[in-house]
Amino acid sequence: SSFYTLVLRNASQVLTMAGGPTDKPLTGAALSQWRIIEQGFVACHGDALAAVAPMSELDETRIGPHTTVLDVSGCVLMPGLVECHTHLVFGGNRADEFQRKLQGESYLDILASGGGILSTVRKTRAATFEELLANALHHLEGFRRYGVTTLEAKTGYGLDLETELRLLRVAHEAARQQPIRLVHTFLGAHVPGPEYKGRAAEYLEYLVGEVLPAARGLAEFVDIFCEEGAFSVEDSRRYLQQARDLGFKLKIHAEQLHELGGCQMAAGLGATSVDHCDYLSPEGAAQVAAAGQGRTVAVLLPLVPLYLRQEKYAPGRAFIDAGLPVALSTDFNPGSCPSKNLWLAVSVACLKMGLTPLEALAAVTLNAAWALDRQQQIGSLEPGKRADVLVLNVPDYRELPYWLGENPVRQVVIGGQIS
Ligand code: NIG
Ligand code: FE
Repeated sequence: SSFYTLVLRNASQVLTMAGGPTDKPLTGAALSQWRIIEQGFVACHGDALAAVAPMSELDETRIGPHTTVLDVSGCVLMPGLVECHTHLVFGGNRADEFQRKLQGESYLDILASGGGILSTVRKTRAATFEELLANALHHLEGFRRYGVTTLEAKTGYGLDLETELRLLRVAHEAARQQPIRLVHTFLGAHVPGPEYKGRAAEYLEYLVGEVLPAARGLAEFVDIFCEEGAFSVEDSRRYLQQARDLGFKLKIHAEQLHELGGCQMAAGLGATSVDHCDYLSPEGAAQVAAAGQGRTVAVLLPLVPLYLRQEKYAPGRAFIDAGLPVALSTDFNPGSCPSKNLWLAVSVACLKMGLTPLEALAAVTLNAAWALDRQQQIGSLEPGKRADVLVLNVPDYRELPYWLGENPVRQVVIGGQIS
């Protein structure tokens, strides 16, 4: 039928994220020059967007007896949030380390003492498939309430063949049981497994030889934590090259706590994203932009320095001015960011990284889609794209980063269905 299935009408603003270049993620002036429609509507046909336009252009003949019509007066409409970096599946929590951190212990000191990531590895290995699944579904429910419609889920708390595969299978089962679309990343190279303490290169050989072949078909991306106490730039380079040869797309955790050059190395290998970047300098950012040919996205995680009591935040303003595309994410995980509030990340990116509200909103939608290689399907409100739409309880986008820590979401549409 040519009737619309769902129409959201009378929105005070429709944030389309559309109208800019489509061959590359947005940066520079383009990151804030996308189109806002005042007094607009969004119409869906099945799971796809059919029309996004001013109310004056709404074709009433396409509203039939079975069309669901919602009046969203006084609301902003925007694309569903794309949460492009999470460590979704893990056992237990690290509330005990919160106390140690408040007493002054650093993230890397806690890790070196066998805590941190390794403490979550012990709890994750001890957890059953069902326990991990229940936790993941609980967190996905929370993300959905915040308006997340696509979410990247990393492994990285198993660090052996059996547990890493269990984490991938848990994520796939969680994807099946609820509406948020998942993107799967293998982060077996989070830190060397406890059995390989002090033998980082041998651990990576084990992953390449035994685990990556088994992870094919279950994960689209391979990621590595390039940092002191984790993996060196050279070990990371070799590993990412081998992963690429096996057909995986690439990501890296780099320049989180030191400027080692991991971002530039990974961008040179064609990484889809380089994540954290708090210690990446503006000059380094220009080199990453060049090495990645304008396609590699820097995923900034503003809640992480906040939670690690760190003064240094990625200089996002300078990155954008240097032509490096940026996206924003929470980095949801039990150690450095136990928060699912991507709206808070948007506010902190404005306050501490110098992004404007318009830039930050494009960074959690279209550029986050680019960071997952999903830019053809999601991230903007354009006919043909998937009908992932948020109805927000504010009349003007400027209120979104303003109401610090609030959840503005009234309704979430995923694939044309009100969820
Ligand atoms: O992205 N930096 C490395 N990995 C995670 C934290 C993982 C953890 O502490 O459990 C991150 O911040
Ligand atoms: Fe992370």
